[in-house]
Amino acid sequence: MAIRNIVKMGDELLRQKSREVTEFNDSLCQLLDDMYETMVKNDGVGIAAPQVGILKRACIVCVDGKTVYELINPVIVKASGSQIGKEGCLSVPGIGGEVERPKKLVVDCKNRYGQAVRYKVSDFTAVAFSHEMDHLDGILFVDKMIDRE
Ligand code: CO
Repeated sequence: MAIRNIVKMGDELLRQKSREVTEFNDSLCQLLDDMYETMVKNDGVGIAAPQVGILKRACIVCVDGKTVYELINPVIVKASGSQIGKEGCLSVPGIGGEVERPKKLVVDCKNRYGQAVRYKVSDFTAVAFSHEMDHLDGILFVDKMIDRE
């Protein structure tokens, strides 16, 4: 595994739409392992492939230091409720602010082996899912920020 450089806001790459993952192979596993290591090293609770310079629809969420969600080609099946909470981003150092997100999400995606998985998440995990999935469409939390702290 290796720690990769994090692309920072201002780089146009973060504003591009990522492509679907079509090959579930060793290089995808390597990417996910590197993303995880990079996230942990930087004390993040989530990371998306474009943040390490790879425009693929893959992201990782781990908000409790234990449960690791790997989301490949994630699609929101259902979003309900709303919540407002403070967010930050490894690509936007030094800025935090309040963002409104769904309270609950149902997400269909693939795991690293290409198997279909459905996750039902709520509260802060839903925030992290929403935030990371936004990265795959070139959206940053600052675009949705209500109130900068
Ligand atoms: Co982010």
